[in-house]
Amino acid sequence: MNLLDGKLVSAKIKEDIKVETAAFIAASGRKPHLVAILVGNDGGSETYVASKMRNCDLVGFESTNIRYDVDITQEQLIAKIKEINADPNIDGLIVQLPLPKHIDPEEITEAIDHRKDVDGFHPINLGRMQRNLPCFIPATPYGIMLMLAHYGIETAGKKAVVVGRSNIVGSPMSILLARNSNPGNCTVTLTHSRTQNLKQEVLEADIIVAAIGRKNFVTADMVKPGAVVIDVGINREVSSKTKSGYRLYGDVDFDAVSQKTSWITPVPGGVGLMTIVGLLKNTLEAAKGTIYMK
Ligand code: GUN
Repeated sequence: MNLLDGKLVSAKIKEDIKVETAAFIAASGRKPHLVAILVGNDGGSETYVASKMRNCDLVGFESTNIRYDVDITQEQLIAKIKEINADPNIDGLIVQLPLPKHIDPEEITEAIDHRKDVDGFHPINLGRMQRNLPCFIPATPYGIMLMLAHYGIETAGKKAVVVGRSNIVGSPMSILLARNSNPGNCTVTLTHSRTQNLKQEVLEADIIVAAIGRKNFVTADMVKPGAVVIDVGINREVSSKTKSGYRLYGDVDFDAVSQKTSWITPVPGGVGLMTIVGLLKNTLEAAKGTIYMK
């Protein structure tokens, strides 16, 4: 078993981003600026947004976290998004998901100017990604592709099975792995809650991407010897043994599955850290105007 080490790879890429950011600041006289909107008090979302802001500071970006109570209306939120869309000093905008039930995430996603949509969730970015055109790629799948590229994992012609069809990870991941690019050129199966014989599907995979949000869902009996396993799960459980009061579990039963794999990501220390890198890279591109002209 070899470890796909998110800590190591993310640190290395963040160093490159830092250098590029310094050059951008020297040339333009301003910092790339990311705004994150957080609605309510979801513990996981608070942690993730805090980490995104911290990493922005680390690479030299400006970052702003706008917080709203859980009862903000959709109209109020959209009004703020429009204000940010029009602000030339802001390069990237993310609205942390999930949102409260009375707010339609589709309406929010489409309200964000696609040129500032550094989450890559807007239909224009998704459509352009599917067509292999320059666009913002959703941060988690982007981070996974960077990880596969860093380790030179052979993907062309391989059978990839993605478990989970979310808009944030599973669906875009299936598109990226199938694209005519490197990494890419996989034969992809996108599995979900209605898939029949899920175990058999996963057993045939050379590359498994587990993004279902269930602790230890992928067990050793579902994994072909030599498979590459990417664990996107960040299942939080209360723990008295950690400083934060929580412990993270992946979607993969790491101890047993890692005995069979060629490569595997740990949780924590794997995909989560790469997600941040994907977001930082998108924000820098947004500031530079290399994907969409400013
Ligand atoms: N919730 C879980 N992952 C993400 C993400 O990548 N972006 C946003 N905006 N919300 C999320």
